[in-house]
Amino acid sequence: MFHGLYAAYAATSLSEAVRVSRWIFAVFEMVHLTGLAVLGGAVLIASARLAGWPLGGLDRGAVWRGLRWVALGGLLAVIGSGVVMVGVNPLKYYFNPSFNVKLWLLLAGVALGLAVDRLVRRENVPPIVWRGAGLALSGLFLAVGLAGRAIGLL
Ligand code: HEM
Repeated sequence: MFHGLYAAYAATSLSEAVRVSRWIFAVFEMVHLTGLAVLGGAVLIASARLAGWPLGGLDRGAVWRGLRWVALGGLLAVIGSGVVMVGVNPLKYYFNPSFNVKLWLLLAGVALGLAVDRLVRRENVPPIVWRGAGLALSGLFLAVGLAGRAIGLL
């Protein structure tokens, strides 16, 4: 199923434009790295507060709600720029194990983020659950980043 999707993308004018251009990939990689820095900052601060770092006594829910849109902006930037970069050779990424692991880890991270978004509205959540969620969220983000770095190494 996904092979067809990547092959169809390779036949598009966007993919051809990225493939023949001398600057599109590089410019979108800059957007990608900026997006992951914004997302990373929001995720790491929110995760630290969830896991128990007092952060000046700010309420967990307030920190999460305050950083939610920053994280979403960063996420949209990495996804948008990532899709454009894949255009340089979609089937190369389809067959790249690090790229595939990265997307599944990202999916797990987004699912956990949505779960935490519901959790922060609840009372009486045991501290162990917060600690687990905070550590898992930052761990997944770091794993996605490492898998992203590993793409070019394979
Ligand atoms: C939280 C989300 C993400 C993070 C933290 C992330 C992180 C990274 C990192 C660290 C690199 C290596 C940059 C370098 O070596 O200069 C990278 C490269 C890349 N990422 Fe992402 N990324 C994310 C999401 C995505 C998504 C959703 C896609 C595609 C839909 C994507 C596609 C790519 C591509 C195509 C490369 C270039 C790989 C290469 O050929 O060297 N990334 N990413």
